[in-house]
Amino acid sequence: INLKPTVVVIFGGTGDLNMRKLAPALYNLYSDNYMPGNFAIIGTARKKLTDQKFRDTLMEGVNSFSRNGKVKKDKWTKFAEHVHYNPVDVSAPDTFASLKTLIERFQNEFGPTTQVVYYLAVAPNLFPLIAQCISKYGLAGTEESCKVVIEKPFGRDLETAKELNKLLTGIFTEKQIYRIDHYLGKETVQNIMAFRFANSFLEPLWNRTYIDHVQISVTEQLGVGDRGGYYDGAGALRDMIQNHILQLLCLVGMETPINFDADEIRNKKVDVLKAMRPFGPDDIRFSTVRGQYTKGWVEGKEVPGYRSEKDVDADSNTETFAAIKFFVDNWRWQGIPFYVRTGKRLFQTSSLITIQFKDVPHHIFPGSVTEHWQQNRLIISIQPEMSIRLQVQAKRPGLDMVLNPVDMVFDYKGTYSSDTPEAYETLLLDVMTGDQTQFMRADQVESAWELLMPVVNSWESKKSLSFPNYTADSWGPEDAEALIARDGFHWFTLPLNKG
Ligand code: BG6
Repeated sequence: INLKPTVVVIFGGTGDLNMRKLAPALYNLYSDNYMPGNFAIIGTARKKLTDQKFRDTLMEGVNSFSRNGKVKKDKWTKFAEHVHYNPVDVSAPDTFASLKTLIERFQNEFGPTTQVVYYLAVAPNLFPLIAQCISKYGLAGTEESCKVVIEKPFGRDLETAKELNKLLTGIFTEKQIYRIDHYLGKETVQNIMAFRFANSFLEPLWNRTYIDHVQISVTEQLGVGDRGGYYDGAGALRDMIQNHILQLLCLVGMETPINFDADEIRNKKVDVLKAMRPFGPDDIRFSTVRGQYTKGWVEGKEVPGYRSEKDVDADSNTETFAAIKFFVDNWRWQGIPFYVRTGKRLFQTSSLITIQFKDVPHHIFPGSVTEHWQQNRLIISIQPEMSIRLQVQAKRPGLDMVLNPVDMVFDYKGTYSSDTPEAYETLLLDVMTGDQTQFMRADQVESAWELLMPVVNSWESKKSLSFPNYTADSWGPEDAEALIARDGFHWFTLPLNKG
């Protein structure tokens, strides 16, 4: 793969994201020969560190969090030669001068085709400050020479997202801006488009005539851990639904793109968001559920309730669970509910998309034969199991005519023996090659906020009197079961191993 010489500047160089995700991803790309011939990685943060100390810290991060386990000594030594550190304090912008000098050193060394990638892995209140410094120091470059990667959260509501878009697009062009949604880099998520648009049997069925309803369930066993400071100001709706889950919904709901061009695909996705039915006051009452976990037991250990977590307000009204029923008002999906749910401290860590098909028009088998009757389902399991299952009815072998639901399974592990790359590897490589397909365009982010604002506002203005309302290690509040049971359905799960 032929990549331009690249300087990657990581703001938040000593932070958690770099240790857990970015450094392991960059090292794995290097190990797999996906980094450019000429590249440099510059970490920046407030701390004063030598290059060597920074390299050692990164190595610890990679050793602890890389999918490939500990680094190979020779590889790491060679990789580490590309890694540098330059302290920057964004509240004292003059410290940018030395960063500029270092970047220019590599630009001179690597030649005129060099691109600089600024990765903003910092708290969102620093996004504007850093972007302004990049601009002030003449480092914003052109579409060819400079890219900026913005981590989530992108705004905390429609207004702040618009403000941030305005500020960024005043400094960079849209083609330079990469708004990350790491779900889009997941192997199984990328496969949704392949599965839908590279196979002919599915498309005729993929509509309101044959599909009964859709479920997207992203559940996590972990609590907020030490991210209480951020999470308590966000909640499940902002943290998961506004971005990851709505993006999954778009992948299921989108029309067929005419080609694989980044903007064409993003146009088709944004069309789904624009077609989603706006929430009225009654919809919020009947189509949304929020929850907050109380203490409980997880694998034999007692875990605290949300309000007792570190950096969480003791009276917090922040939801750690959200379930919503959406509709997409267009020809393909009119009247078909899309149920989504997500939450922390739930019974299982699992991300599943389930498409339930309508029943056969006429049952020819008598009841005794079809005791375990189940409508056809397509289950796309994003994690931890990576699979696509088509659940169909089949005759159980034997002299009696008895039908059972069985799974036709495409399982990554069984089909491909090789390891799959982590989302951040895919996405960092996309940034370096200049492919924006898996990144959020300004209008996608804004449309998602626009849709959710009535829910955000309603939940913020009304304290939930029932909080906390689900026990750690459960499937969430009872109201979430009721939300879907009212329509005659229930939430699907896979009998996976926990964890
Ligand atoms: C992040 C959220 O974007 O996604 C976290 O901020 C959440 O709260 C995480 O735990 C889930 O990602 P993954 O890849 O572990 O499913």
